[in-house]
Amino acid sequence: MACPHQVSIDVIRSKSLQEIITEKTNAANIENEDDPFYLVDISDVINKYKTLFFKVFFITHIFLTAMKSNPDFQIAATLCGLGTGLDVASAGEIETAVAVGLKDEDVIYSNTCKGISHLKVAAKENLTQMTFDSEVELHRIKRLYPSARLVLRLLVDDSHSELKLGVKAGASFSRVPHLLKVAKELGLNVIGTSFHVGSECGSPDAYAKAIEKSRRVFDIAKGLGMKFNLLDIGGGYPGQINELFTNISRIINKALDIHFPSDSGVRIISEPGQYFSCSSSILVANIISKRIRFEDDDTQIEGYPSDKENMEITYHINEGVIGAFISKLIINLLYIPKKLIKSNEKCYRSSMWGPTCTPVDQILSDYNLPEMEVGEWVYYEIFKCVTRSENVC
Ligand SMILES: Cc1ncc(COP(=O)(O)O)c(C=O)c1O
Repeated sequence: MACPHQVSIDVIRSKSLQEIITEKTNAANIENEDDPFYLVDISDVINKYKTLFFKVFFITHIFLTAMKSNPDFQIAATLCGLGTGLDVASAGEIETAVAVGLKDEDVIYSNTCKGISHLKVAAKENLTQMTFDSEVELHRIKRLYPSARLVLRLLVDDSHSELKLGVKAGASFSRVPHLLKVAKELGLNVIGTSFHVGSECGSPDAYAKAIEKSRRVFDIAKGLGMKFNLLDIGGGYPGQINELFTNISRIINKALDIHFPSDSGVRIISEPGQYFSCSSSILVANIISKRIRFEDDDTQIEGYPSDKENMEITYHINEGVIGAFISKLIINLLYIPKKLIKSNEKCYRSSMWGPTCTPVDQILSDYNLPEMEVGEWVYYEIFKCVTRSENVC
């Protein structure tokens, strides 16, 4: 797949992560800048792609990486250059898919509730593949983009996942015949079905059951005279290549062999998100404020801590839960900062806050951390997050 855009990638060899971050933050300090930034290890993304594509799944499966987890142009362009497509959820992500040179076949608009202006952008760019799970959405698509090719998002068991997506999207199995009939009456073209077992799914079996359920949806469609040719098995893979990942891929391959064998003519696609973003991304942020609080009175002081027992140091950094740390709010993820400068390693009870004025913007509470200073840079490795995008689906 040709990518018409230039991607800027620094090839860095023989340097430790700390050295790379120190170089970048020193440059920022010289410019008097303190904006947070991501470091993305593109070689990790490429290795993950190779593992997924060549070692784990059959070569015929196409991967569309979920942009909501990987919103960087560089990540998208690299993956698309390797041969993946994109799962997009908003007008902005559609524009990125177009900018990296993707064609209709390689993009799926996987948001079952699309805003009118966003849907219009899909129509303008002639990107036809999109999901739905309700009658309302069918009518909206009929009005604004009747030539779209639709994929019915099915509700499946996501009880074994860290982040359950079924609360927001997916039609229950009992609703399938009705929705397909409405689509048929409206003259819409439904081409297949999709599901998502939830992010960080701990159960390989959940995929097997969802694939079997999808087969039954295909059969219902056939009974209604519709010809399906696309199955989208979503994401949900762990961020690391580990035993769970191997088991998941084994079970998926087995279930596909049974229900959608390669001679069935069904195109299988998947939308891995965290799988690509988790181990490749490191977030670097700056400490913009520090206070010392005491529980037994309302004293707040700035400066160096005393050894008073009931003391807590509160730090403010310039990224928060209304942004990159949103998984703290959603699944209470523990984000522990790492220091670049190893100084006095004595630990104090601390809390970390994001830059907004809302009191929900707490990243970490009641945690023993070595003391840090205002202006110091901290980093977060294995940046596990549900999304790095504002265009959350
Ligand atoms: C429709 C859809 N596809 C794919 C993904 C990516 O999922 P994961 O990061 O679990 O692989 C998401 C995550 O929210 C999603 O909503």
